[in-house]
Amino acid sequence: MGPLAVTQLLGLISLTVALDNGLLKTPPMGWMAWERFRCDTDCKDDPENCISEALFRDTADRLAEDGWKELGYEYVIIDDCWMSLLRDEHGRLQPDPSRFPGGIAKLARYIHDRGLKLGIYADMGTHTCMGFPGTTLDKIEIDAQTFASWGVDYLKFDGCSSNPVEHMLGYPLMSKALNATGRPMAYSCSWPVYIGGLPPNVNYSFLGDICHLWRNYYDIQDSWDSVQGIIEWFSNNQDDLQPAAGPGRWNDPDMLIIGNFGLSVDQARSQMALWAIMAAPLIMSNDLRNLDNSARAILQNKVAIAINQDSMGIQGRRLLQEKNHIEVHWRPLSHSASVLVFLSRRTDMPYLYHTSLAKLEYDAGNYEAYDVFTGSTVTGLNATTELTFSINPSGVVMWYVYPEQQSKQTEMLHDLHNKASQFAFHKAKPGHLTVL
Ligand code: GLA
Repeated sequence: MGPLAVTQLLGLISLTVALDNGLLKTPPMGWMAWERFRCDTDCKDDPENCISEALFRDTADRLAEDGWKELGYEYVIIDDCWMSLLRDEHGRLQPDPSRFPGGIAKLARYIHDRGLKLGIYADMGTHTCMGFPGTTLDKIEIDAQTFASWGVDYLKFDGCSSNPVEHMLGYPLMSKALNATGRPMAYSCSWPVYIGGLPPNVNYSFLGDICHLWRNYYDIQDSWDSVQGIIEWFSNNQDDLQPAAGPGRWNDPDMLIIGNFGLSVDQARSQMALWAIMAAPLIMSNDLRNLDNSARAILQNKVAIAINQDSMGIQGRRLLQEKNHIEVHWRPLSHSASVLVFLSRRTDMPYLYHTSLAKLEYDAGNYEAYDVFTGSTVTGLNATTELTFSINPSGVVMWYVYPEQQSKQTEMLHDLHNKASQFAFHKAKPGHLTVL
């Protein structure tokens, strides 16, 4: 099939399918098992970490009791390896009986009772990526119904073990089947990853009609290399990706790995800052039972979260890539505010970066700024004020910028400031600012 025929076919399908159940007007927030716990099914030797109902109950307890839920982290998402290798006698998926003895419906109740939501994983194809039963085209309806009957709130639909034609048919069909259950479920599509993530193979406006979010690029791993590679790919392809995002339709650069083993404090802040710029889902994959205070402070930074969750839902862009390996990323926000992130791709020492708001295309006028990770406020700026930022290697400086003397902004800032100071963070020396 040529690209034109594919586009026409997609056009036809889009007349009949639209997933507009009002969900995910801002990017989803929560927790997902995969990056941290993978396909650990060894509950005998590793009972704490294996994929079992206990892990999801423990995580729900932590989300509900440690202040995450109030910040918006609400989805508890099961990934691959939850299933029994066989469907039941009615052809329905069923969980592994030894690792999920209570069943998924009971786990959903446990999670709902704590004011949280349950996500689950399935795969458009013959097998999941780890070899568990897949959802072939003929099983889409029954699987959507099974998930709805269990009280599932979110489906991650992967795309291993199938071909592009099956994807093209299966992803819209699942959207329709989820709609038909009458239960509002968020729908995360891995489709783009399997076809290169870019137009013309990927039709992002169609995807936005049928899915709430989609994985565009390779899986995140527990390393700065991986995070940096993802930031680089999304920035290099921002002309195609940035316009695709908006309320109810989000690009997904994959899970937050903050709190695991691979990132320094600076790198963890960089992930949080760039995920806020990209209007990315804030879905952690870490061990909430064992999280150090620096990771907690970054993940619970209320200003970074508020920026990520901005109601306009406009994804940001990389504005500049300097020869000195400093990058400037920017995102417009409600109330004429914006966020600037200065990212160092250097590997030597804190770098002094000189700029001004005018150089970053800001209009003439007076501004104030709030430094998201230090909690300091800078007043009396105008567009030509010379600024010097000290940016740590693989770290960021993140500025919330707003026009001066607008009562709304002042109120908003006070609010943000109060929230932020509750989580004041002193452990590592952050990048700092000098106004010359
Ligand atoms: C794929 C997905 C991952 C995860 C694994 C599970 O690689 O991209 O996010 O779901 O499958 O097997």
